[in-house]
Amino acid sequence: MKTLFIFFVLMNLDQLLKTGRCTETQDQILSITPKTQEQVDILKNVSTQYETALWQPVSPQYIKEENEVHLFVPANSSETVKDLLQKHAITHRVLLANTNELIEMQTRNDSTDPRSSSTFYERYHSLEDIYHWINRTQQDNPNMVKAILIGSSYEKRPLYVLKLSVNNRPNKKAMWIDCGIHAREWISHAFCLWFVQNSLSFYKLNQDITRILDNMDVYILPVMNPDGYQYTWTTNRMWRKNRSVSKSSNCIGVDLNRNFDANWCTEGASDEPCTEIYCGAFPESEPESQAVANFLRSHKDSVQFYLSIHSYSQMLLFPYSCTLDEAENHKDLLEMAQEAAQAIRRYYRNTYKYGSGAKTIYLAPGGSDDWAYNLGIKYSFTFELQDRGRYGFLLPPSLISRACNEALIAVKTIALKVIEKTQAPTSHP
Ligand code: ARG
Ligand code: ZN
Repeated sequence: MKTLFIFFVLMNLDQLLKTGRCTETQDQILSITPKTQEQVDILKNVSTQYETALWQPVSPQYIKEENEVHLFVPANSSETVKDLLQKHAITHRVLLANTNELIEMQTRNDSTDPRSSSTFYERYHSLEDIYHWINRTQQDNPNMVKAILIGSSYEKRPLYVLKLSVNNRPNKKAMWIDCGIHAREWISHAFCLWFVQNSLSFYKLNQDITRILDNMDVYILPVMNPDGYQYTWTTNRMWRKNRSVSKSSNCIGVDLNRNFDANWCTEGASDEPCTEIYCGAFPESEPESQAVANFLRSHKDSVQFYLSIHSYSQMLLFPYSCTLDEAENHKDLLEMAQEAAQAIRRYYRNTYKYGSGAKTIYLAPGGSDDWAYNLGIKYSFTFELQDRGRYGFLLPPSLISRACNEALIAVKTIALKVIEKTQAPTSHP
């Protein structure tokens, strides 16, 4: 009996220690909805201090009354931040208490664990692994895949585009997908790998993939911001921008999705290098955006569909984000996004918002989608994948397959529409 009692105490002690660790010494994500202008101002202040990282909205300037804020608070400033919130009667909810564990879970390489049932594509991969994967994919599928070097990053890492091509029909059209413009949006990189794997495995088996690949080449850039991505694995999981050093400031990094030449650096971007939405010194000042822009410029006659993959918030966006004006083919784009969102709802019972970027989220000039659109790629989209803020950027590996499958169905829906609208029906078998 006595031993049983001691055992009981020990068990609870363990539990106590565990909860203690969870709530006190871990990094956390807080959800806070400011109710007054004063609270808004306090939050803006908090989010620019104490090494916190704003998850939502992207920049403090968008913090508004009654709009939910997601804030990453590292353990060492947790007390200070919470005291400050309390002092101003700002209530908060702990969205994620076990941030460290989630990050550990995302970076664990369980490929050697025999109990793990997850495949390569249901895990997140380091930059090095992705480079290996690019090589292997090309070697294993010499008839369908070619890696094209389109430039290099600020820190001189190669930028590889995979070209999927199943035939050499004259006047062959194409689509483009880039992933990982923003470093911390790991589900984005995972999607590009997923897409390639799915295309290669289901060509000639799945009707939609077959029709798409028969009619279009696909260019895929799995890691548009390799320096930033590497940094999220080694140093700071919450990093968004690239890693270029500024001449005028000690702050590092340009937001590559504000660096394109589409109403560059107007409202919705910032010329202040220390912000998360820094537009850079001039349009295409960054080697990463320049490489993409150069490639698309030289392929603009064939590329009909541009797609950029981000996370999180579950949205299918199209131009414009750099102005409130409507795109010339707004009705078409809206219809396509709506159909894609319906497919996601039908097959996966999940809800995606859709609409023009500026009206659905906020003004965001200098984005790749708007720039590609103005270049003449009339079907241009940005997808924000899962989730809606339960895990934010820390989507667990177990949710990768669902997130990618629902995005895939949206891509297929739109790609098929593009083919239908732009290509005369072919008579080949
Ligand atoms: N959330 C992403 C960002 O802030 C995409 C917003 C849409 N903007 C755009 N230009 N597509 O960059
Ligand atoms: Zn993004």
